Amino acid sequence: TPTELTVTRLGGRIGARIDGVRLGADLGDQTVAQIRQALLRHKVVFFRGQGHLDDEGQIAFAEQLGTLTTAHPTVNTGSAHVLSLAATQGMAANSWHTDVTFVDHVPAISILRGVTIPPYGGTTNWANTVAAYDALPRPLKSLVDGLWAVHTNEYDYVADSEDPESDGPDRDALDRQQFRSTYYETEHPVVRVHPETGERALVLGHFVKRFIGLNSSESTAIFQLLQNRVTKLENTVRWQWQQGDVAMWDNRATQHYAVADFDNHRREVRRVTLVGDVPVGIDG
Ligand code: SIN
Repeated sequence: TPTELTVTRLGGRIGARIDGVRLGADLGDQTVAQIRQALLRHKVVFFRGQGHLDDEGQIAFAEQLGTLTTAHPTVNTGSAHVLSLAATQGMAANSWHTDVTFVDHVPAISILRGVTIPPYGGTTNWANTVAAYDALPRPLKSLVDGLWAVHTNEYDYVADSEDPESDGPDRDALDRQQFRSTYYETEHPVVRVHPETGERALVLGHFVKRFIGLNSSESTAIFQLLQNRVTKLENTVRWQWQQGDVAMWDNRATQHYAVADFDNHRREVRRVTLVGDVPVGIDG
């Protein structure tokens, strides 16, 4: 018998909690279809109380929704598919981004499991990039509809987070070096048509280096204007992690930001991602 799922909205534009399912292998087609439908509608969904999951269980759950990518294009994770994002001293992905947009096939879905959660802080925020596009006034839609961006993994937020005063573990420096060990650069349309919903979404985030045909100061100004639209608080949801939580987001329709406000506490989340398409613009 299929599980009785309940989906509870968390905000007007993005986010829902799903209750009534124990994640793992063999969920059954109907349950998987319900989860996918909730994901496509709400862009990020959260499951509490999944502390029974280990890496294998997380992988087994993910494989019912798609094909796993390698753990990360450049970071040597020691695991084929699982990227451990572990931090002390507040280091986190604390800048708005969509995962791995510097490759051609941007991951479709990311699934993140809360392994060690600090006693305070370390929330993650998601923003709806479809709602952000929809809410653009017509002149801005005309601007972005034909615009393309260059995405690279040589991005600013890592550099910005390097604190010269920090006597933190060298591991952070190593991670940064590894992250940039192979240079990736690719071009994506700023507006993509979602392959499953047909919705139009903005493709931006911190891997954008510049827009094609614009110089760097023009790119910065337009990037900021659009990012302000994406990250407007009404367009976001914030998740207060508990150990054993799972967050799953549509990487084709969201950006996210992990808040680095947990001092010297340890925070570890583990991510798997599912293979996605090359983003297609509105002209095909
Ligand atoms: C990520 O950017 O995928 C990690 C988000 C988080 O650490 O909460």
